[in-house]
Amino acid sequence: MSGEPLRLQLEGKVVLVTGGSSGIGRATVARLLQEGARVATCARDAARLERAAAELRAAHGGELLAVPADVSTAAGVERIADATLAHYGALHGLVNNAGSSAAGPFATITDAQWEADIALKLLAPVRLARRCLPALSATRGAIVNVVAIGGKAPPARSMPSAVTRAAGLAFTKALAQEYAPQQVRVNAVCIGVVRSAQQEHHWQREFAHLDLESFYVEWARRRAVPLGRIGYAEEVADLIAFLLSERAGYITGTAINIDGGLSPVW
Ligand SMILES: NC(=O)c1ccc[n+]([C@@H]2O[C@H](COP(=O)([O-])OP(=O)(O)OC[C@H]3O[C@@H](n4cnc5c(N)ncnc54)[C@H](OP(=O)(O)O)[C@@H]3O)[C@@H](O)[C@H]2O)c1
Repeated sequence: MSGEPLRLQLEGKVVLVTGGSSGIGRATVARLLQEGARVATCARDAARLERAAAELRAAHGGELLAVPADVSTAAGVERIADATLAHYGALHGLVNNAGSSAAGPFATITDAQWEADIALKLLAPVRLARRCLPALSATRGAIVNVVAIGGKAPPARSMPSAVTRAAGLAFTKALAQEYAPQQVRVNAVCIGVVRSAQQEHHWQREFAHLDLESFYVEWARRRAVPLGRIGYAEEVADLIAFLLSERAGYITGTAINIDGGLSPVW
């Protein structure tokens, strides 16, 4: 093993990435296609998903299955998982990426907002893992859960997201312990602030007087990111692809910050 060049050896591997029409999910799909993996993805907006899938196929070639599905519902999880397994007949990786930012003053958050956040950020990964683990056990596959640094160190006004992300971290650890005997690895990546549609909504809401690049410079300054810039979705995609690969074969049950040093905890 040692001395070999760092090749990810993902050729032909089947990976399901939720939320692949934008941001980190889209960059991850691109990275996996570049590596020769066969990929399935989903999102709710069917037109945007199909547009993204067509662009990804044109840019990178390879096999990409795109299925409109809302993973915050049991039916949506079933739709994308069943379609992936029926189409490819095997599964080597699952990336629970679909998500949104949801944070505000505690007193303003309604039960409906809590329930929606739990459905998307906890129940979706739980249901997908339950559905996919038999196939992942057969291939000694891997799961990567995309969470946020707030799950480890929740600041004020970070609910409901920081709480559901903390649950995602506990889920990652418990699942990793339980499935290690089957050689299924389970890890989390904890995002700080990364360029994506999520951040662009924030730009349009509160910084529309700036152009996008100036917004990202200003946002890194206001958030006091130690490395002095906002991250790129492609940087997260590299980490996810590595964690899915056998080159990360001794890494399980961990949660890696990818945040330019922003988190106060490791
Ligand atoms: N970017 C950051 O700075 C940051 C920070 C912390 C955590 N994160 C986490 O990183 C992940 C990726 O975020 P991003 O920044 O790349 O966001 P993004 O650009 O907004 O992309 C989110 C993707 O998820 C899909 N999606 C959202 N809800 C879904 C649902 N219920 N079912 C299926 N697909 C769904 C979206 O498509 P549709 O809307 O069409 O469904 C889209 O493809 C999320 O879990 C996010 O919370 C990001």
